[in-house]
Amino acid sequence: MCGITGYTGKMEALPFIMQGLEKLEYRGYDSAGVTLVDDKKMFICKESGRLSALSTKLSGQHHPQTCGVGHTRWATHGIPSQLNSHPHSNQAKTICLVHNGIIENYLSLKQELLKKDYHFRSQTDTEIIVHLLDDQYYHEGLNMFDALKKVLPRLSGSFALCIVTKDEPDTIYVAKKESPMILGRNSSGCFCASDAPALLPYTKKIMPLKDNEIAILRKDSIEVFGFDGSEKTQEWIDAPYDIKAAQRDGYDSFMLKEIYEQPRAIKETLRGRLTEDDVVVDELDELDLDWKDLKRVYFVACGTAYHACLSAAMQMQHLTSLNVYCFPASEFRYGEPYLDKKCLCIFVSQSGETADTIAAVKLAVQAKARTIGIVNVLGSSMSRMTDICLYTCAGPEISVASTKAYTTQLVLLNCLVLAICKRIDGSKADRKMIAELKNLPDLIRDVLKYDEQIKKLAKLLSDKNDVYFIGRQHDYPVALEGSLKLKEISYIHADAYYAGELKHGPIALIEKDTVVIAVATEAKIAAKTISNIQETLARGSKVILLTSDQIETEGFEHVIRLKTISQALMPVEIIIILQLFAYHTAVMKGCDIDKPRNLAKSVTVE
Ligand code: AGP
Repeated sequence: MCGITGYTGKMEALPFIMQGLEKLEYRGYDSAGVTLVDDKKMFICKESGRLSALSTKLSGQHHPQTCGVGHTRWATHGIPSQLNSHPHSNQAKTICLVHNGIIENYLSLKQELLKKDYHFRSQTDTEIIVHLLDDQYYHEGLNMFDALKKVLPRLSGSFALCIVTKDEPDTIYVAKKESPMILGRNSSGCFCASDAPALLPYTKKIMPLKDNEIAILRKDSIEVFGFDGSEKTQEWIDAPYDIKAAQRDGYDSFMLKEIYEQPRAIKETLRGRLTEDDVVVDELDELDLDWKDLKRVYFVACGTAYHACLSAAMQMQHLTSLNVYCFPASEFRYGEPYLDKKCLCIFVSQSGETADTIAAVKLAVQAKARTIGIVNVLGSSMSRMTDICLYTCAGPEISVASTKAYTTQLVLLNCLVLAICKRIDGSKADRKMIAELKNLPDLIRDVLKYDEQIKKLAKLLSDKNDVYFIGRQHDYPVALEGSLKLKEISYIHADAYYAGELKHGPIALIEKDTVVIAVATEAKIAAKTISNIQETLARGSKVILLTSDQIETEGFEHVIRLKTISQALMPVEIIIILQLFAYHTAVMKGCDIDKPRNLAKSVTVE
């Protein structure tokens, strides 16, 4: 996902632009660039590779301009290169823009521009926008605002745009559709950025731009309009966290900080959600749904959020007679699911910007299904697309590997499932579950005390090429999540299997010293998993067993015992151990913990 920063006001623009791009590095990128504008010229500088390469190119020169925009690009159309990096400009270099998103109809628009004798320097979809604006501005004689009102409705797909022109050297035009863009302001001027951490060192006064809005930022004013030109009211808020919350707080990586933040994140997420004997999800009352008519429930998400959904779907299947399904969003959107107003679709996304999940939401909304969103990012695109939206209050999750978002999704989904069950059949959450939810933050603090032990055990993994995770029932989705954590930050091949499925093929992979991480926390079926483990031990595997304090085991060299709580909540405990395994293994391998290769924090492309 690309990163954008922009400033216009009394200060030199470049320092804000560059520090903001640094704060947005977590979004993943492969090139970077800036445009600075004043009444003399449009200065453009861009470079492939890390932000440091751009800084080197800019060093040694003074840039007094007080208006400009910056961009970090995560390639979608056109290989990562200096030529394809943003900003992109018109032929005369009098209009310049940066873009985050995908223009899906760019090829047809490009054909139109080629017929008008426009030439393209890059392979990007973005470049067509600046030429379309050039055409309206210079050939149709429109001002930039009117040119935008003409061009933006023609773009299908997603975009967050910042446009600067030489004729208005103190103005930034900002436009948003589906990709995030947040405005900021202080006494020195006006700011914009793809995410709040870029703004927070300068201001806590922020306003997420809404879809189909244009903002005009000048030195001392901000105006907001619809694409049709209608003026929009501005709803400014105080950023829900300060810059420290988005920084490392002394941890050596965002991921470790976020692993340790989970007790607080869970506590914040459950704030106001629990009474003595029940869960509180009053948002459900806003849903236009007759619960006794409810026929189907779909849980839909990607990656880690999908694993959280698998746990929630399993819980709902155990508690109700409803038809409950769980799909990755990339399957749901093309799977022609049966949808109507008697269906409830629950979408989960940390960023609220994942392209597949957003497309899945659109499909459900078009079919008049009732939709619930669970997101972590305030003002994110998805948060405004579903009928109701619940927030995991995990705070900014900067590390690409999702940790606190997952555990807060699990607890919030747990509350949601219980609240839905109550509306369907009047059943109340059992008091034991409520008490366990209340106690979770303290329990997770206790589980984190295993850190040192896990660090030692991680040595078993760090020199391996393959590691296998196994589990049954509620232990299986969290085994999937544990394998995703390990593979995405340590680059070790890791797979998760139903324990009972090992003998149907995967056990062929087990050889001497193969590491198997077995999750067996459910007393009534633990013995079955333990016999599966014996099968791997007979073939020379090294087993690390995660089990609970009520399950007797013997003969295992490495056993980690967790406190027995409701099975639906056990994944919250288990995953802490698996996150620490992934973290310590990746550290031992010298991997980039927060920005793993090939990955982006939010996947805004298909
Ligand atoms: C998880 O560690 C990964 N970073 C990735 O699988 C992520 O969970 C997935 O891309 C979904 O992101 P979202 O929750 O922001 O939609």
